[in-house]
Amino acid sequence: MYMRTLQLFKLVLSFLLLIASNLMLMAQLSVSDQQKLDELMSKMTLEEKIGQLNQYTGDYEATGPIKQVGDKAEEIRQGKVGSMLNIKGTENTRILQEIAMQSRLKIPLLFGLDVVHGYYTTFPIPLGEAASWDLEAIEHSARIAATEAASGGVHWTFAPMVDIARDPRWGRVMEGAGEDTWLGAKIAAARVRGFQGKGLGSTDAVMACAKHFAAYGAAVGGRDYNSVDMSERMLRETYLPPFKACAEAGAATFMNSFNDLNGIPATGNAFLQREVLKGEWNFQGFVVSDWGSMGEMIAHGYCKDEKEAAMKSMIAGSDMDMESRVYTRELANLVKEGKVPMALIDEAVKRILTKKFEMGLFDDPFRFCDPEREKAVLHDAANRATARDIARKSIVLLKNDNQTLPIDLKSKDKNIKTIALIGPLAQSENDMLGFWSISWPDGDIVSQEEGIRTRLPEDVTLLVSKGCEINDKSKAGFDEAIAMAKKADIVILSIGEALDMSGEAKSKGHIRLPGVQEELAQAIYGTGKPVVVILNAGRPLVFNWVADNMPAILYTWWLGSEAGNAIADVVFGDYNPSGKLPMTFPRDEGQIPLYYNYFSTGRPAGGDNDTQYRSAYIDMPLSPKFPFGYGLSYTTFEYSGLKLSSKTMTENETLQITFQLKNAGNLAGEEVVQLYLKDCFGSVVRPVKELKDFQKLMLQPGESKTIAFDIDKEKLSFYNNDLKWVAEPGEFELMIGSSSADIRLKDKFELK
Ligand code: NOJ
Repeated sequence: MYMRTLQLFKLVLSFLLLIASNLMLMAQLSVSDQQKLDELMSKMTLEEKIGQLNQYTGDYEATGPIKQVGDKAEEIRQGKVGSMLNIKGTENTRILQEIAMQSRLKIPLLFGLDVVHGYYTTFPIPLGEAASWDLEAIEHSARIAATEAASGGVHWTFAPMVDIARDPRWGRVMEGAGEDTWLGAKIAAARVRGFQGKGLGSTDAVMACAKHFAAYGAAVGGRDYNSVDMSERMLRETYLPPFKACAEAGAATFMNSFNDLNGIPATGNAFLQREVLKGEWNFQGFVVSDWGSMGEMIAHGYCKDEKEAAMKSMIAGSDMDMESRVYTRELANLVKEGKVPMALIDEAVKRILTKKFEMGLFDDPFRFCDPEREKAVLHDAANRATARDIARKSIVLLKNDNQTLPIDLKSKDKNIKTIALIGPLAQSENDMLGFWSISWPDGDIVSQEEGIRTRLPEDVTLLVSKGCEINDKSKAGFDEAIAMAKKADIVILSIGEALDMSGEAKSKGHIRLPGVQEELAQAIYGTGKPVVVILNAGRPLVFNWVADNMPAILYTWWLGSEAGNAIADVVFGDYNPSGKLPMTFPRDEGQIPLYYNYFSTGRPAGGDNDTQYRSAYIDMPLSPKFPFGYGLSYTTFEYSGLKLSSKTMTENETLQITFQLKNAGNLAGEEVVQLYLKDCFGSVVRPVKELKDFQKLMLQPGESKTIAFDIDKEKLSFYNNDLKWVAEPGEFELMIGSSSADIRLKDKFELK
């Protein structure tokens, strides 16, 4: 009896919520648009409504001109398609929008595309950009991507990807901001702000899409599309905050994910989509499924056929069907049979149409189709300059023994007259773009050879040799490469992954250097010449031999259109590297998942050798090769004088901490100062440390600055066992560091 009353109560509540959310959806529009929306809805047949929930891909290459639109064109004409993906360019989008204008109600199409790290100008992969810890630069890069995409008729990007990722075997780590929740949430919001600019309706704004909702990054074994099983506490504390930050920043859309979460596929997950996203967070936009994910619930064994998949998706709050085609085939019957309430369809349609109104598409369906604007925006030289700047900010200096870097061409002592540029990525253009980039027939990509050659004075010779392919067993090129290295005063060795080695469906069991690249590195090292390694990759790799032996290493991810120039800027000291790792780099795949903010155990190891009945490995060290937050500079920074405004605080107070940061070297440089906190004793076990703030600052040689951080209740809070967001009275440790493992200042305080 009690259960039945409860169920009834829940049902009534959910209908009240639905009505309330319908009213709120309308509240976003102007009065006249609201009237138009109502009028439109009243005219729409069930089939036309379902059409708005249907998204198709183009029949053709996203990049090429439209050759044939086939049956999809007819469906668009009949009002059976609400959105198309993988269409770009004013010419192509105009053709399809014109067809939509032939439909009975003339409802414009939405064009979506994966503009993940640039549209025409390619920026560093998102993981690389995250290494810049520069929120302004990250927002700026998304702003430019949006401006370019919008000029090419695109209304909607399937980005940002905000999945927290602690497993570098998962190839999609390249798309996100790494392992940390706090940093990830800040970057997520910056990207949404960048994409949506002044707001939907500006002709240089695209709708953002926070993806993949949710917990996709926690796939078991780092295997793409795999299951996720985690506590709700972990979900809310670690995986959801970047999504919440997107919702708060006004992201127009969300995309759900391929994985199941605790047994329920995300696409059919009412808890995630209705309860958390549209309920608790009051999200007013719409949710698109991931590609085919509604239909994939059959393979999951969660739905026996397409009809059940359509029903479960709709009931769970998936508004738009990307390429499963189950809505278009099954929803009408489900409504007629009373298995899906009409109110749910209306709500989904309203959510989608509201965005079309907000984008101004009902006023002018062709407002993103101006070829003149497209030409001007895509060839704006300022975009290249910004791409170069963010690319160099994304580079992480991992090692620099004997001040091998920067290469000083003016130094009389070093007298560098010949440089050998060796390695399979030295001349590559395409790989510089990285996965999820859009290639253009006239795209100008600066290779490392080009960037370095342009930078060299006439009296310095550049010798170039591939040495080997990226992923091939042949060592036939070694001799030439060795001979060149021997002739050189210094070697730049460019190695790593090809663009298709990290990304969707690119999970790896081994994350080592592919092919014979490590052997090439050993052969070049054998010449005795100083070597600067450029490591190009979409994920943290394991490269112990290189890390232990080579004197200088720059981790350059995939830096985009301006890769070669950005790398030359850092190599020759025109830019002092300032990047810090947004993910932990393991020594061995056996350590994965390895992340800095692990929970305190009852038997913590005191170090790599402390393995006796400790939480450690007896056959390998516990510590990472390079920790989260790590990255060197050509200068050094000193931290001193930590002061707390008080040793105690209450929930309503803010504690201020200050300290001095000094540039103790001879070069101007930027440091990312990181604030970590540890809740020493909690009602649930807490992490050993958690990033809770950071600042990136530029200091001239010898300059000192006073840095201040505020600590408030929010920074001390976590989800307790009852899933309440609380700050518990007690002792906290605060740590100021140059990385998560390089803590320079420490103190304690108490929350009363
Ligand atoms: C599948 C991917 O998971 C998603 O991130 C992407 O946006 C869609 N395909 C569309 O390309």
